[in-house]
Amino acid sequence: MIKLEGLSKVFPGHNIPAVKDLNLEINEGDVCVLVGPSGCGKTTTMKMINRLYEPTGGKIYIRGEDALQMNPIKLRLDIGYVIQEIGLFPHMTIEENIATVPNEKQWPKDETKQKVSEVMTLVGLDPKVFKDRYPSALSGGQRQRVGVARAMVSDPPIMLMDEPFGAVDPITRARLQNEFLRIQERMGKTIVFVTHDIDEAIKMSDTIAVMREGELVQHATPSDLLSAPADEFVSNLVGRNRSIKRLHLIRINEILDEVDRAKPASEDAKIGEVEKQIEESDIRSVIVVDKDNKLKGVIGVSDLKRKSGEVAGDYCQDVTDTITSDATLNDALSVMLECGEGYVAVVNEDDQYEGTITLGDLLNVVKEEG
Ligand SMILES: Nc1ncnc2c1ncn2[C@@H]1O[C@H](COP(=O)(O)OP(=O)(O)OP(=O)(O)O)[C@@H](O)[C@H]1O
Ligand SMILES: [Mg+2]
Repeated sequence: MIKLEGLSKVFPGHNIPAVKDLNLEINEGDVCVLVGPSGCGKTTTMKMINRLYEPTGGKIYIRGEDALQMNPIKLRLDIGYVIQEIGLFPHMTIEENIATVPNEKQWPKDETKQKVSEVMTLVGLDPKVFKDRYPSALSGGQRQRVGVARAMVSDPPIMLMDEPFGAVDPITRARLQNEFLRIQERMGKTIVFVTHDIDEAIKMSDTIAVMREGELVQHATPSDLLSAPADEFVSNLVGRNRSIKRLHLIRINEILDEVDRAKPASEDAKIGEVEKQIEESDIRSVIVVDKDNKLKGVIGVSDLKRKSGEVAGDYCQDVTDTITSDATLNDALSVMLECGEGYVAVVNEDDQYEGTITLGDLLNVVKEEG
């Protein structure tokens, strides 16, 4: 889909090339993540793909066609671009910001409005709430969602995403990543994604391209990169604890059926029965659900002492945080550490209970994989 052949960029007045003889092939529908230290040429590579920068050497093929022979403005309309600093126009509303490319393509106004509203919903921004706001009235994470929506709105087959989730806290970041992966599963776009964060790279990618000082050091699947780093630079980058890093590669739904799934208690269950369940549980707690299987809360050993009533619902406490089953085991670990609990409840999008992942389950996975 995208083929870079001997691609180079020397900026005027520089002796050292920013990108040097880069060969990289990205298959259709794949997410290729570029990683490497600051200044190694990631953004420059992206900007050559959509020809914001003209290469000083080499070739770029898109679907077999020579991109350097195409009209750069036309080319760019087919390549969604999420720029490193988000880059929203401050004097334009969110709706106007997202509509930039459709307006350039002169889509009918109604169609544009409709499509903007669709992509906003897709990235988790309620159009009714946000479309008429200005970027300054959004949080960093919301602005990043707008950046992603803007790149997606005209449904380009290729997306270049330069640190799209850079400016948010780890928990929001994990949510954005999971939403992105969910969307990508449906859309199957060819994506070049830049990050500094090797964990993000492992989680998001079909392949990882490691760059250093303008050169490609290794291009491999995340699993191969972890098991066979090309040199010391790559093995330092992926770091120690490679078996723990594998937690990024496994999604909760892949192990949820295998883990010993303690049954939840119904909110109207007699507390005596629940007490027995708690004693038998590895985590000394039991999840409580309502009649629609929606998560109500959790009862731990200490909650029983309060003698608040007859049934489970009278004793249960709110759970601090939950997770969805498309998140990774590493996301599960983060939530556990964040909440200070040895488990996390897994729910679906309607907040229905699907199971519990415990610290013990994660240890088992690391042991097996190691
Ligand atoms: N417009 C430009 N003019 C001159 N030099 C540039 C220009 N853009 C980038 N460079 C230089 O090219 C090299 C690669 O920069 P680039 O922005 O591609 O790095 P990067 O890998 O994206 O880094 P970061 O992770 O910090 O975003 C750097 O040495 C940078 O100073
Ligand atoms: Mg950059």
